[in-house]
Amino acid sequence: MARKPARPGGRSINQHVRRKQKLKPSSRRWIERQLNDPYVQRAKREGMRSRAAYKLSEIDDKHAILTRGARVIDLGAAPGGWCQVAVERTGSTPEEPLVAAIDYLGMDPVPGVTVLEMDFLDDDAPGRLIEALGGAPDVVLSDMAAPTVGHRQTDHMRTMHLVEVAAEFAIEVLEPGGHFLAKTFQGGTEKALLDRLKNHFAKVIHVKPDASRAESVELYLLAKGFKGRG
Ligand SMILES: C[S@@+](CC[C@H](N)C(=O)[O-])C[C@H]1O[C@@H](n2cnc3c(N)ncnc32)[C@H](O)[C@@H]1O
Repeated sequence: MARKPARPGGRSINQHVRRKQKLKPSSRRWIERQLNDPYVQRAKREGMRSRAAYKLSEIDDKHAILTRGARVIDLGAAPGGWCQVAVERTGSTPEEPLVAAIDYLGMDPVPGVTVLEMDFLDDDAPGRLIEALGGAPDVVLSDMAAPTVGHRQTDHMRTMHLVEVAAEFAIEVLEPGGHFLAKTFQGGTEKALLDRLKNHFAKVIHVKPDASRAESVELYLLAKGFKGRG
C-alpha cells in the first residue's frame, strides 16, 4: 500500500511506532499520540516551545487576561510555551521585560522574559520573582505539575499543593484588577481554596481549552478581577 506523503513542515497523520523497537506499551502509546497530535505538529510549524502554548492562547482569546503592557509571572514555565504567548500578548521586550518566569528545570532564554531557575516552593522564590519583575504582577499564571510517581492520589495531592501555594502567592502579590490562572484537576480543587478565591476575585471559574486533551483530567482554574487584600 502506498504511504501517505508527509505534510509540508509536519509529519503525516496516523503514524505508528514500528513494533521492532523494544518499547513499553505505555511509551509506545505516548510516542504515537505525540506524533499524531495536531497541536504538537502546529507547535513545531509555528516555532512554539510546547503544545501547552495553545491552551493559554485559547483561554486568553476567550477570557482576555493578557493585555498589552500587563506584567506577568509564569510559574512552572519550562520549556517556555506560555512565556512565548505572554511576551507576544503583553508586548514584553528584552529592554523592558514584562514577564518573569520560574522553573527548577533549565530552559532556553525567551527574549522579553526574566527566567529564574529555582523551585517555586523555596522560601525566597516569591521575593525573587517580584524582584525579577520589578514590581507587582497583573497576572499570575501557573502551569506547574508535580512529577508523577504513578500513584494517582499522591500525584493528585502534590499538584493540588502547588495550586494552593500558587493561589496564596497570587493573593499576596497581585495588583487590584489582576488575574490568576492555574492548572488543576477535575474534581481536584478543594472547596476551601475555591471559597478563598471567590472572596478575593470578582469571578472564579474552571476552564477546559480544546488544546487540553479530552481524556486528560487536567482543567484550569481561572480567577478574574482581584479585589485587593484590604
Ligand atoms: C506542564 S509543564 C509547563 C509547560 C509550560 N507552560 C509551557 O508552555 O512550556 C510544568 C512545569 O512545572 C514545573 N514545576 C513543577 N513543580 C515546580 C516547582 N515546585 N517549582 C518550579 N517549577 C515547577 C516542571 O518542572 C515543568 O517544567
